[in-house]
Formats: sequence, C-alpha cells, structure tokens
Amino acid sequence: MTRERIDYAVIGGTGLYRLPGLEGLRKQTLATPYGVPSSEIVCGSLHGRTFAFLARHGETHAIAPHRVNYRANLFALHELGARAVIGINAVGGIREDMAPRTVAVPDQIIDYTHGRLSSFSDAEGATVRHVDFTEPYAPELRAALIEASARAKVPVVDGGCYGATQGPRLETRAEIVRMRRDGCDLVGMTGMPEAVLARELELPYACLALVANWAAGCGEDEEISLQEIFAHLEAATAHVPIILSRLP
Ligand code: HPA
Repeated sequence: MTRERIDYAVIGGTGLYRLPGLEGLRKQTLATPYGVPSSEIVCGSLHGRTFAFLARHGETHAIAPHRVNYRANLFALHELGARAVIGINAVGGIREDMAPRTVAVPDQIIDYTHGRLSSFSDAEGATVRHVDFTEPYAPELRAALIEASARAKVPVVDGGCYGATQGPRLETRAEIVRMRRDGCDLVGMTGMPEAVLARELELPYACLALVANWAAGCGEDEEISLQEIFAHLEAATAHVPIILSRLP
C-alpha cells in the first residue's frame, strides 16, 4: 500500500459508485485487520485536491446497509492517509424542507441501528475508548461543505438530525412518526456506525445527505416507489462532484 496525503476521502452511497471528474486515477485494494473494505479505493485529483473514493455498497450495490464492513472501510481510508472523510448518504425526508432532491449537511444523529460492529474497541485486546460524540460531525468539515455548495451555487440545507435505521427495509409510518417526535429530520440506513468509527480514528467526518424520497407517510403517496427513489437520487447525485470540486 502507498500511503499518501489524501485531502478528502469520499464514501459513496446508493447511486454513487465512482467520482466523475477524478483525474490521474490510482486504484488500491486493501486488506485490514477488520476485513476487506466494500470496494477498491480509487485515488485521484479534482480541482487541485487529492481525493480517495470508496463505494460503500460495493461497485455493484451487493452489500446491504447492515452488512457493510464499516470498520474496514474507515480503517483503510485512515491507513491510506485520509485527512477527512465525507459520507454521501441517500436519505428519506421527514422535515417539511427536506423534499426529494434536497441536499443537506446534517449536524446531529440519532442511532436506531442494532447488531452492527460499531467500535474498534470490539476487537480482541483493544483498549476501550469512550469518545466524545456530542457533535457527531466535524464542524469545520461541515462548514467547508456548506461553503463549497455556495460556491457551486447548489442550495443546501444547513443542519438537521439524521436518524440511522437498520434497513434494508424502509420504515413503517409509525416508525417515522416516532422518529419525527424524537427530532429526526432525515432517515437513512448507513450514517451509523460510519460517523462514530471516524471519530474513534480522529478523522474529521461529515455527511452530504441526498434526499431520495419522502420518508414513509410524509409525502402524498401511499407507498414509496423505488423507481421514484432512483430518479430523485440521480438528480441529487449530479450535484455531488460539483460541490466536492469547490472544497477548499
Ligand atoms: N428510509 C431509510 N433510508 C433511506 C430512505 C428512507 O426512506 N430513502 C433513502 N434511504
């Protein structure tokens, strides 16, 4: 493995399996003490910054949210020399201003996932660390994403609480009512444990959330159509390389 300075590592979610515009591509296949990452890691440059890209669900979307090896993914990016990690996450919109195709940079998380390996402290013989997680996302990295979006003239919602669910099924109407009551504005399946593992590695981490649909019971439709999800997601995903290319 070649260790290099990576300004930004990007973990692509559903609908984002490569980073358009990345130049001078170098691919790395890494093994870690936690297993194999979801995909090979593609490094390159974009507007004078070095990026590493990893597809969270694999290049063919064969890895379900609860089966992603989040620890291997984060560990590999850290080993490679990443200075910061940006998670791109498809989400459902709960709050009124989180309509499909909205791009948001959430500032809080509520974790409803279960049974996932969510700490490097799980490893045999590891030291148990109780990391501070009051602010789950790195404020400077969030600010950089918001500034980059403004430069790219892409409207983004600054803030919001990301509710992380287990998936792979979507939620029931009652679950979303409860999540709204809890204070969630967005719902997705992959925001955790990714964010906390980055924190354990002291890697600044932020999320660029792409709203693919109204969460269950929030829109006018009785059911959530997958076709609609993919159409909205494609539209929102188109903004991603434009925003990333304006990062400082
Ligand atoms: N719920 C959970 N995860 C999601 C959704 C949703 O409605 N849409 C996209 N990812």
